[in-house]
Amino acid sequence: MSKEAKQRIAPLVNELNEHCHQYHVLNAPTISDREYDLLLRELCDLEAAHPELVLPESPTLRVGSDLSKDFPTVVHQNPMLSLENTYSEEEVREFVRRIQRELGDEALNYVAEMKIDGVALSLTYENGLLSRGVTRGDGTQGEDITPNVRTIRSIPVRLREGPQDCEVRGEVYLTKSVFDRINSVRAEREESLFANPRNATAGSLKLQNPRLVAERSLSFFAYQLRAPGVDVGSHSQGLELLAKMGFPVNPDWHRFESLEEVIRLWQDWDGKRDSLDYEVDGIVVKLDDLSQRERLGATAKTPRWAMAYKFSAEQAETVLVEILLQVGRTGTVTPVAKLSPVRLAGTTVSRATLHNQEELERKDIREGDTVVLEKGGDVIPKVIRVIEDKRPGSSKPFQFPQSCPVCEEPLVQYESEVAVRCVNARCPAQVKANVRHFASRTAMDIEGLG
Ligand code: IVH
Repeated sequence: MSKEAKQRIAPLVNELNEHCHQYHVLNAPTISDREYDLLLRELCDLEAAHPELVLPESPTLRVGSDLSKDFPTVVHQNPMLSLENTYSEEEVREFVRRIQRELGDEALNYVAEMKIDGVALSLTYENGLLSRGVTRGDGTQGEDITPNVRTIRSIPVRLREGPQDCEVRGEVYLTKSVFDRINSVRAEREESLFANPRNATAGSLKLQNPRLVAERSLSFFAYQLRAPGVDVGSHSQGLELLAKMGFPVNPDWHRFESLEEVIRLWQDWDGKRDSLDYEVDGIVVKLDDLSQRERLGATAKTPRWAMAYKFSAEQAETVLVEILLQVGRTGTVTPVAKLSPVRLAGTTVSRATLHNQEELERKDIREGDTVVLEKGGDVIPKVIRVIEDKRPGSSKPFQFPQSCPVCEEPLVQYESEVAVRCVNARCPAQVKANVRHFASRTAMDIEGLG
């Protein structure tokens, strides 16, 4: 029996991994989900009867069984750098001029890729098997989250071809559709919502139970291959090789011989990035030639051979229903816009900060106004401006109250401050905010408080 099982398990694992690749990487399954599940069930049964025969690349290990307690810290063999960022075409041109000065009259070839708004991940393969998945951390050292990484179905546990000992880097992300599903489940359970797909991805990768990570249906795009002793040739050849090795590579990458083409690609995508089912925040411009990269080197934080050219911030238009006043822990009274819900940069927005009285008056923001919103680097959207043409005739300037909206004590504005404050230490809003702060993760980190 054990011999039969042994003979069956290896081909079964291979077949399942092949289907997994077709489904999750190529998006072209050749069998139905039901057929897949039946094969998987057969494998599970065999493995349950013969735990000693479980292969390291078995798809059953992706589900994750044991609870991991803590994530060990790992020092990256090569630091995980970040990218210099710009929103300006002129700075991209300057970046190229700098490179050209450095490399003389050598021809430059560029690869432009989507900048995926997710979480960077480093994968180590030994003898063709996934041995480690580590987060970027502070760039020098990250967290070993291998059990969680194994649940990401588009990451191969066994490489198909190409170098078998290598490091692959890429971006873990959540599709917008999966993100919406996760948040609507959380809303039903009255749990706090994730602000955007990137935060949800980061949160998911840090979960202590791989089984829960598996439920999050994370995705992955590979963008960097390092294989000691193997001449990968160029970055573009590296991307092609990564696909052959079994990795999902974002299809929207292009090799260009001129900067003008790079800029045209950016212009092309700046207006239509919403059409993708995952969030991108720009393009990454990279030199294709690896020897040129080596000669350029890097600063402490960023390589000199790549730059992120970010898309313009997304904007949305909606109606400001009401101006609410929030009293914070220190008594600061902050005006907050209650909005008619609108979709903006991956999430549904129904509130925006209005900062303070001064800002409110300067922009003459009123209840009933149609406003333009933007999300900056922050997750909290801002009201950029009012569309005055759409202002209702009955509209009146907003009157900032003279007394606290919660305890009704008079408000105070100190000369050196823009903030307006409630200075009543017994104000219920302040007391509540203080208790919440006391218990919060950054203070006493109390899990439950009655
Ligand atoms: S290359 C040395 N390519 O952007 C730089 N990064 O701000 C190696 N990212 O930490 C990164 N898409 O998490 C590269 N196509 C892409 C990317 C990409 C997203 C992220 C990555 C990196 C961050 C830098």
